[in-house]
Amino acid sequence: MIKARFIFRCVCLVLTFAFGLCRRASAQAPAAPPLLLGTAWYPEQWPESRWEADLALMQQAGVHMVRVGEFAWSRMEPEEGHYDLDWLDRAITAAGKHNIYTVIGTPTAAPPAWLTQKYPETLRMEQDGQRAQHGNRQQFNWANPKYRDFARKIAEQLAKRFGHNAYVLGWQIDNEYAAVSFDPETKAQFQDWVKARYGTLDNLNARWTTAYWSESYSAWNQIPIQVGYGNPGLLLSWMRFVSDTWRSYQKNQLDVLRANSDAQKFITTNTMGWFDGYDHYTVEQDLDLAAWDDYVGEGHLDPVRNGATHDLTRGFKQKNFWVIETQPGSVNWADINNSLDKGEVRAMAWHDVGHGADAVSYWQWRSALNGQEQYHGTLVGSDGAPVPLYSEVAQVGKEFEKAGPALAGTSVKSEVAILHSYDSRWAIQWQKHNNKYNPQDEIVSYYGPLRAIAQSVDIVPPTATLNHYKLVVAPGLNVLSDAAAKNLIAYVEQGGNLVLGQRTGMKDDDNSLQPQRQPGPLADLLGGRVEQYYALTGPVPIQGTWGTGECPLWAELLSAKDSGTEVLMRYGKSNGWLDGQPAAISRKVGEGRITYIGAWLDPKTMAAAAKWMTEQSGVKPAFGPVPSGVEVSPRYGVHGVVYVLINFADGPQTVKLPGEMTDVLEGGTKRSVTLAKYGVAVVSAAR
Ligand code: GAL
Repeated sequence: MIKARFIFRCVCLVLTFAFGLCRRASAQAPAAPPLLLGTAWYPEQWPESRWEADLALMQQAGVHMVRVGEFAWSRMEPEEGHYDLDWLDRAITAAGKHNIYTVIGTPTAAPPAWLTQKYPETLRMEQDGQRAQHGNRQQFNWANPKYRDFARKIAEQLAKRFGHNAYVLGWQIDNEYAAVSFDPETKAQFQDWVKARYGTLDNLNARWTTAYWSESYSAWNQIPIQVGYGNPGLLLSWMRFVSDTWRSYQKNQLDVLRANSDAQKFITTNTMGWFDGYDHYTVEQDLDLAAWDDYVGEGHLDPVRNGATHDLTRGFKQKNFWVIETQPGSVNWADINNSLDKGEVRAMAWHDVGHGADAVSYWQWRSALNGQEQYHGTLVGSDGAPVPLYSEVAQVGKEFEKAGPALAGTSVKSEVAILHSYDSRWAIQWQKHNNKYNPQDEIVSYYGPLRAIAQSVDIVPPTATLNHYKLVVAPGLNVLSDAAAKNLIAYVEQGGNLVLGQRTGMKDDDNSLQPQRQPGPLADLLGGRVEQYYALTGPVPIQGTWGTGECPLWAELLSAKDSGTEVLMRYGKSNGWLDGQPAAISRKVGEGRITYIGAWLDPKTMAAAAKWMTEQSGVKPAFGPVPSGVEVSPRYGVHGVVYVLINFADGPQTVKLPGEMTDVLEGGTKRSVTLAKYGVAVVSAAR
């Protein structure tokens, strides 16, 4: 009897152990590759019997990641409180069998019809008082508590079900935050927000100068919502409220995702490049990873502009990021939806990686047979068979597999930083003063020539740590908070080289004019200031240290008050006021230097200015000379550096390497590489 009981216990133990092993085995998966090729897959749009064929084609193309679910709410919760995630579980498992990992999108950008019909207050209201309707996406009200309840519950269901699934890499919350609501409840929330920020109406009235046009408020509920044209303090407050509300909208889901997931699963959202509908630095602070949707639209890839957008996105978390959506050839929403040229999609994927992307994911795998985006580019056609681009993407897949080990753990490091702030871009956009003045173009006008020289540039907010940069450039930093001003002053005093671009340092943190002329709190350090600004109807000649050129649309008349402040550039003959006056001034401060450029410079003069800036600050090219049209991007790791070289010039170009390097894609060592148009080489050198 005792023996029988002993045997029974042993059998139980063995079974428990074996079962435990099995459970652990099913929860395990090999590590995901360091460089991921992905695609947006919508299994809910297809019969399950088709999934296997799709996944096999993906695997054949080297796809190792699918993003799923971000618009599938009506499938996940077909009725209020009735969740069906079994199909998604089966899709994730099926993908895993093909070594394909999943990123799950929470489906909250597309609420089901039953939800908004039963709770119409969850629909956002347009400025004209009309509620959005079901039938498109982004019809929800991001500030509405009821909507947030539903959003949290569906996110929680997903997290509880998949938060420990080894084939799930992470989460994307919602999809491209953008549309806001102007309903009365949101307005009341905004008024509460304003009250929390300003404390008293006297304070608010003073900071917004509401004595102007009889705008004074005697009760918080008098405060309106204004967009586009209005009191600058009110406009900025609304955008900050919008940003904070996106942050709390996101946090509502993020908290339940985090609470129910393995720690290593990342949480991200997909942003849209320079889109300025909210302050991304506010919203990104709670996320683990920055990810953006990189679409060229009409025309062809502009590596300078697109590179700047990568660097902007990398600056959100100041680390590697994902291109979580990109176009497979063409889009469906531009004026002319031309396809990228043969070879250009591959070049673009490597350009993404060069700037710090660790994943490139095509939107989308296959078009839904019906729905609004039937004409968008895909990797397989409506018949389920590969389109011509598939083989080019498959080449990228194979190359990512090959280059993954060399790129694993590498990241971008730059000696140059460009400062960027949403407050400043908004402030300029609301009062452009010259309708051709585009703050984003201003940033890119500096970025382009600096990137060409330094071969790597960071774009970061003005309160970022700056000590490790040799050169910091702040174009159009119109709104300068006290904290940012302190940061910049400390940077210069500690030996940094700071260059301020036109329109910098004009406003304070409430979008009020600074009581000192530009650059406001930095004027003393500069030993000079802006006497007057002029919107130009035509180019003004300019000359000095950076040669002769033109100032096309904006000119600030500068003065150098301090004896140590040098004049670098002067205006030529123009409106009389500017004639012969300083256009760029500079002052050495101990080991550091502060420079102010008051003129929007033409590209040639800007290139000379960039050369001067880098020479002054000791910035060195990360790689060395490359022929015109070739983009080089370094990524650094503990073992050495990997350079991505891409030829965007029309004809072939030969790049002489600075030493003998390993050819990561082709194998062997090289001293030079010759690249056809859109040709790519990935070379590495040990440290
Ligand atoms: C993105 C969006 C995708 C898809 C794509 C088409 O903005 O996130 O869902 O619509 O555009 O280009």
